[in-house]
Amino acid sequence: MNVLVIGSGGREHALCWSLAASPLVTKLVCAPGNPGIAQVAKLAAVDPLDLDAVLKLCRDEHIDFVVVGPEAPLVAGLVDHLEAAGFACFGPSKAAARLEGSKGFMKDICAKYNIPTAAYGRFTDAVAAEAFIRSHGAPIVVKADGLAAGKGVTVAMTLDEALEANAALFAVPGAEVVIEEFLDGEEVSFFALVDGETALPLASAQDHKRVGDGDTGPNTGGMGAYSPAPVLTPDLAQFVMEHIVQPTVAAMKAEGCPFKGVLFAGLMLTADGPKLLEYNTRFGDPECQTLMLRLKSDLLPALIAARDGVLKDFDLRWKDEAALCVVMAGAGYPGEPRKGTVIKGLDDAAAQSDVAVFHAGTKAGENGVILANGGRVLGICGLGSTIREAQTRAYAAVDKVDWPEGFCRRDIGWRAIARETR
Ligand code: AMP
Ligand code: GLY
Repeated sequence: MNVLVIGSGGREHALCWSLAASPLVTKLVCAPGNPGIAQVAKLAAVDPLDLDAVLKLCRDEHIDFVVVGPEAPLVAGLVDHLEAAGFACFGPSKAAARLEGSKGFMKDICAKYNIPTAAYGRFTDAVAAEAFIRSHGAPIVVKADGLAAGKGVTVAMTLDEALEANAALFAVPGAEVVIEEFLDGEEVSFFALVDGETALPLASAQDHKRVGDGDTGPNTGGMGAYSPAPVLTPDLAQFVMEHIVQPTVAAMKAEGCPFKGVLFAGLMLTADGPKLLEYNTRFGDPECQTLMLRLKSDLLPALIAARDGVLKDFDLRWKDEAALCVVMAGAGYPGEPRKGTVIKGLDDAAAQSDVAVFHAGTKAGENGVILANGGRVLGICGLGSTIREAQTRAYAAVDKVDWPEGFCRRDIGWRAIARETR
């Protein structure tokens, strides 16, 4: 089969790495990809948001199956566009991607179908939103309705902070804002493959959103992750499937917009049980890197089964080991990162045992040199019998990377390791 992967991050490198190992794949193309992906796939310089250009690429490359990595093309309707032209795609339709693309839509679904989540109000009017904030008081959470690359959420510990965030969001004409009850607890991510009707649990993972060690500093796209997350016990995972994932899948079908693709539930484990913080309608980045390292089965048939609506009775095999991914970012991230700096030692890093090196924001320089070209630049992953062992392997590989202008957190996995050593 000729397979096209859409995207250019570490997630897409991990997906391509996994798909390249499938005996079913004859040609793997990635648009636009990155220099790491170029080691396993043919790159096509096509913008994922240029839907017609992607369609032309499918025709030119005789693509049989498309895997969409990031949320923006899903929310823009890429899957609808390609499917309408006869190309099979893994990923939700534009209507189903509203679970990620509109927080208000997601919250309304939860309210209507009794899915545990924070209490909320949905506003298009600044004054009404402000009154709601004042009546509830802090702590309270203020969210932009639409996609904001992780920057649209303020967890306000004071009333002033909440009012300020509200005013900033409503400074943009046409703004929609969701105000939520503050939930306290530990966060965990849960991934399921969905075919419109059936949900197949994949795995749990935990991300590290803050830029600094000890979970300090500003939020980022994710500085590292590991899977599985021991905090999500089998009982809790079953609760999440029964009370959150499956009711959502049924709700989306009942609403006439069945969900197909990866449902990524961001959860808060509160004293009252797991509650949904947000849905993403795609694999997480860097969570996907850890999932792909742990997956034993061929990924491609599972994605095709999800698209074809035949996940029932489908089974996936996972390694018993844990995987951990350390993100290396360019100095300055999550502000403006320094670009164009030279990265050396990647072959040495990749040669370590039970390690995989995934590229994200890299660029090919002259004579095979790899340059930093973004905020999150590399995902260095280790596999081990415990999270501690996976962490040791990942950092041993990180230490082989010679990139003075890059940095990473040194404590990825700390919560799980504290549990392992308890
Ligand atoms: P979201 O994009 O909705 O997941 O929000 C980003 C981050 O904000 C989450 O990962 C949480 O750390 C935090 N957050 C979101 N909603 C809440 C909430 N209701 N209570 C506490 N923290 C929240
Ligand atoms: N790592 C969080 C995300 O992919 O949204």
